[in-house]
Amino acid sequence: MINQKSITISYTEFEGRDHLNESELLLCESAVNSAKKAYCPYSKFSVGAAVLLESGDIVTGNNQENAAYPSGLCAERVALFYAGAQYGNIAPKTMAIAALIDGELTDNPVTPCGACRQVFAEIENRYHKPFSIFLIGKEKIIKIDNSVDLLPLAFKLSEC
Ligand code: THU
Repeated sequence: MINQKSITISYTEFEGRDHLNESELLLCESAVNSAKKAYCPYSKFSVGAAVLLESGDIVTGNNQENAAYPSGLCAERVALFYAGAQYGNIAPKTMAIAALIDGELTDNPVTPCGACRQVFAEIENRYHKPFSIFLIGKEKIIKIDNSVDLLPLAFKLSEC
């Protein structure tokens, strides 16, 4: 038997920040401020991520590059691994991601790389809770309600 299957994802696109509530705005600002402190001498592409935990704490991270390129790490994983190290028993609730070029927020939102998406899947699996993501651009903002939607058929050892 052959089953043809398909997967669709849905997300929300906002023009500008008017539709965000106070805590979402704070998280976006935290991501932008974190991007300003990125260490990215090679790409000069500054990325910041801010993670709101279920406790209300906000943890931030930014990309950390290295002369041996693959040794660097994306902003999302710096933030999420720091959260895991410092607040391992508290689930992430929402994450905001922003990128700057020449100190200016990119027009379009930055979208996370595949390796980061695999880490999102692990976190959802670890805490048995979805977390949402805001991708912040100057002109538009994208909201993804469940981070795992970004990686259909993600690898999960527990499901093999
Ligand atoms: N980068 C991130 O930190 N997050 C993303 O979502 C995309 C890419 C970083 C990796 C590298 O330091 C630089 O941006 C250029 O790819």
